[in-house]
Amino acid sequence: MGFCKDFLWGGATAANQCEGAYLEDGKGLSVSDVMSVGSHQEPRKISLDMDDSYYFPYQKGIDFYHHYKEDIALFAEMGFKVYRFSIAWARIYPNADDEKPNEAGLQFYDNVLKELKKYGIEPLVTISHNEMPLNIVKKYHGWPNKKVIDLYVKYCETIFTRYQNDVTYWLPFNEVNNLMLPLSNLIQGGIYIEGSTDFNNQKDDPNLRMNALNNVLIASAKAVKVGRKINPKFRFGTMICHITRYPRTCNPDDVFYVHQNDLVHNCMCSDVMLRGEYPYYAWNYFERNHIQIALNEEERQALKEGICDFYSFSYYQSICESTQNFDETTSGNIMGGVKNPYLKLTDWDWPIDPVGLRYTLNKVYDRYHVPIFITENGLGALDTPVNKEIHDPYRIDYIREHIKEMKKAVEDGVNLIGYTPWGCIDLVSVSTGEMKKRYGFIYVDVDDEGNGTFERYKKDSFYWYQKVIASNGEDLD
Ligand code: BG6
Repeated sequence: MGFCKDFLWGGATAANQCEGAYLEDGKGLSVSDVMSVGSHQEPRKISLDMDDSYYFPYQKGIDFYHHYKEDIALFAEMGFKVYRFSIAWARIYPNADDEKPNEAGLQFYDNVLKELKKYGIEPLVTISHNEMPLNIVKKYHGWPNKKVIDLYVKYCETIFTRYQNDVTYWLPFNEVNNLMLPLSNLIQGGIYIEGSTDFNNQKDDPNLRMNALNNVLIASAKAVKVGRKINPKFRFGTMICHITRYPRTCNPDDVFYVHQNDLVHNCMCSDVMLRGEYPYYAWNYFERNHIQIALNEEERQALKEGICDFYSFSYYQSICESTQNFDETTSGNIMGGVKNPYLKLTDWDWPIDPVGLRYTLNKVYDRYHVPIFITENGLGALDTPVNKEIHDPYRIDYIREHIKEMKKAVEDGVNLIGYTPWGCIDLVSVSTGEMKKRYGFIYVDVDDEGNGTFERYKKDSFYWYQKVIASNGEDLD
């Protein structure tokens, strides 16, 4: 037994991290455009009035806006069956509440979709990926405001109508559950609390944040319903940032602590999106944390009517947690944890845990029994080009070991339908804003300050992944 014959091999990117051209052809400013460059040691700065002394890396990205033909040709050369990308909301509705959409923005994605079609690559579209028009923050104070639900649904209706014959697979929100953490206040919640300066340390009002998340979940369900009316063949997926958690010790207190965190952080949003209502433990969590979410009867009904079709998630690493104090900690996507003595770390201190992926696939399939799509996974690493060649055995190792575990999960009986490694072409990192933290099979010659030729080079991993796809995951050498 191996991967199904129509397994969707491909790669993933997001508009804000790669397009650049941040004010071109009528695009409005988005929340991500105002995040400065940072580093592993120095947090990214955020403010609503941009300070000229910083460089804002998303404004240039990797200039996918002008290189999309070349980039898609390279994806096709690798043999991609699917390409996950996001639409920049601020390209379509520059201020979110504009009466009419921006035709030039719509045209750009027409062009991208046309190019994908030329090579027979299936699009997988994220509707909102860490990005929304900045006006939502300034005028509406973000997602806690119910009016934003209508603005989002209008945006969805526009793109569903325009691309109804070109797109089947949609993800309403990237890593929707990140709003469980203050880190996502601005980029996912559109919440900016006066005095916040660092991306990693934003001022937080949990009640406001959870109401933002509640409205996001309602908006997602409403969009699914609208989409299905436009084209019943549309397929919608969750997109969960799955931080696989292990108890650091077998002390039953640790086991239960991790179980509760897993439910709230990993399962709550997908339970709502796939089962149509908040689970029992969510109400308990809200009560314990003095959170009151505004959810009326009509919205409860909307949640039931807008259930997704498949489960998609990002998986980069696992973390350990404990009720006791451990000195050694590690970093990770969105959050870190207590150090796991059995795992090695990446250059950015994220644990590497391929077996954790098999465990996670089994866990989520057992819970939901719907098709599963891994929409992000990969290694952020330093690459050193020599004469336009990049030897990246570390990246090949990382992905190879994860694919081996995916295969075992398929043999376990998991219905896995696709795999889109993150940043298939180098792009700007979210957590640090750096370019030098690279995930791609394709190298882009641009540095942390936006200097470079923007030329694309194929890494060793490019040729390796090409073989993997050609052999449907059999040839991993
Ligand atoms: C995910 C995001 O959280 O992790 C991506 O969906 C992001 O947008 C990816 O780039 C990797 O994180 P980072 O911080 O290395 O860019």
